[in-house]
Amino acid sequence: MNKSSVEDIRERFDSDVERFSNLETGQSATVDAVLSLEIIAQAATACTPDANSLLDLGCGAGNFTLRLLQQGAKIEEITLVDLSLPMLERAGERISAAHEIVPVTFQTDLRSFDFGENRYDIVLAGAVLHHLRNDDQWQETFEKIYRSLRPGGSFWIFDLLRYNNLNTQRMMWNRYGQYLTNLRDKAYRDQVFAYIEIEDTPRPLFEQLQLLESIGFADVDVLHCNTCFAAFGGVRK
Ligand SMILES: C[S@@+](CC[C@H](N)C(=O)[O-])C[C@H]1O[C@@H](n2cnc3c(N)ncnc32)[C@H](O)[C@@H]1O
Repeated sequence: MNKSSVEDIRERFDSDVERFSNLETGQSATVDAVLSLEIIAQAATACTPDANSLLDLGCGAGNFTLRLLQQGAKIEEITLVDLSLPMLERAGERISAAHEIVPVTFQTDLRSFDFGENRYDIVLAGAVLHHLRNDDQWQETFEKIYRSLRPGGSFWIFDLLRYNNLNTQRMMWNRYGQYLTNLRDKAYRDQVFAYIEIEDTPRPLFEQLQLLESIGFADVDVLHCNTCFAAFGGVRK
């Protein structure tokens, strides 16, 4: 199936800012959204306690960065990357209002972003890497993230997963469908499933963990996994 273009994805997110602007609920179309925000904020702070600079990839309206700052991280430099300008504007407003930090923002496809080397202490990627399409893009992006971290820096992902075993995938997808139906109704489930089908190319958790390790990340750990979503990460030693 032909997946949505970058432009189509940008347009959809441009008109969906509100849904990503609530720190109390997180992105409720994902399972355990609030727990994942919290657990990533806590793990990033615990593993990189002296962090000064942060990169938030696919930042949306800034929930992951805001939750990290709420956790007490003493971050002074924040870089936000997103396809969507309205998302970046909302993230910048919320972060500046709550923490008096003015983030540097880049409206770009993360595949074209100049990550640089030894720049960041923490890199966050919340529900965005599932937009990477093929092996090369996954490999290149993880490598760039690794190099952009300072030694001791950490990388944290929360994302939609695919399961290796087709039966397990079907079973987990049914469970996720039930979650969405309970959250709202069957029409909402179908709407979420439709945009996942056309936009997303998620990868199995194990494959992503192996890729992190093969690139050089140490202490690769899973913080949480439920149904089709996981929070995980690693450290650049
Ligand atoms: C599902 S939202 C998650 C937002 C935020 N991280 C959160 O968890 O609340 C995904 C975000 O990634 C952005 N995005 C999608 N594909 C992207 C890409 N290739 N490069 C940069 N940003 C992208 C979208 O515009 C959107 O704001």
